[in-house]
Amino acid sequence: QRRLKERLFDLMEQITRRWQTVLASDAAGQPAREYLARRGVSPRAIQTFRLGAAPPAWDDTVNWARSKGFEPDLVEQAGLIIRREDGSGYYDRFRGRLIFPICDEQGRVIGFSGRVLTADADTAKYINSPETPLFHKSRVFYGLDKSRRAILDAGFAVVCEGQLDLIACHEAGVANVVAPLGTAFTEDHARLLRRYSTEVVLCFDSDEAGQKAMSRALEILLEAGIVVRVALVPAPHDPDSFIREHGAEAFQSLVRNAEDFFDYHLKRLCSIHDLGTERGRLRVLEEMGRLLLKTRNDLIIETHARKTAAVLGVSEAAVRSEFRKLE
Ligand code: CTP
Ligand code: MN
Ligand code: MN
Ligand code: MN
Ligand code: MN
Repeated sequence: QRRLKERLFDLMEQITRRWQTVLASDAAGQPAREYLARRGVSPRAIQTFRLGAAPPAWDDTVNWARSKGFEPDLVEQAGLIIRREDGSGYYDRFRGRLIFPICDEQGRVIGFSGRVLTADADTAKYINSPETPLFHKSRVFYGLDKSRRAILDAGFAVVCEGQLDLIACHEAGVANVVAPLGTAFTEDHARLLRRYSTEVVLCFDSDEAGQKAMSRALEILLEAGIVVRVALVPAPHDPDSFIREHGAEAFQSLVRNAEDFFDYHLKRLCSIHDLGTERGRLRVLEEMGRLLLKTRNDLIIETHARKTAAVLGVSEAAVRSEFRKLE
């Protein structure tokens, strides 16, 4: 008997091919084909990212697995089917969805994300594989297997939110990009990224959810000793919609001109607090200090203490002494 993980890898590879075939040529793949065409995803990207389509049935995967000789128990452990409460068998987890295979760093498929094809929202827009022996959502970046070379070459990684953002980035010539699955960015993600680069450009959605997600990711990255810049996608866009509307070059220049996070933060704080008041100036000091201290990097702290002092019209010593109070 082969090890469980090997059998799971085999199953994931086989179902990936099956869903690719459905997307490429089955009648059941027609809605997904039309959807991808509408969104402007190229045939090349469909191939590179091995996109697929899960037919809109409750038992398609169940029957396919049986015909291939995969034990239901294994298919359930892979997260592809779910046991019925009444014990009368299993049903498919991914039904009538566009399928994004999620790969480990070696490019082996370990899980899936599936997007609905219609706007009626009585079901989640995306569903992902559950935790399995292969798939740990909080430790995986979508796209890392296809981006690692480009990240090493560029010397930094662009982090965006979603699968379609990442694919659009690649198509726009920005290949050094990764996406956590959903908006939760974890310490494990930061550790994983640091193996490839100590510099990150955050490129999240312009909406409030995206900006909140960016703040959370930011603190984790700073604590991991990663230098952060921000590429602000103008509202109402996310990277994908920005690229579709404004083109590859506009996006490349957005990334190229990404601003050092602390410069951006200082400007933003100065725009929301009244520097004419002591209270306003203190708030700027506190909020700069709180995040600067997370870096535990004297060079970074000193550089931005100096800039903060200049903007507030106070001495650098006063800024440093206020920062020390926050420790
Ligand atoms: N996400 C998720 N579950 C949801 C909604 C979102 O896991 N119910 C994750 C997906 O990875 C998604 C990312 O969060 O790609 C960002 O969400 P959102 O901005 O809503 O989706 P988009 O990536 O913009 O997808 P689309 O353009 O298809 O709407
Ligand atoms: Mn979003
Ligand atoms: Mn989005
Ligand atoms: Mn989008
Ligand atoms: Mn626009």
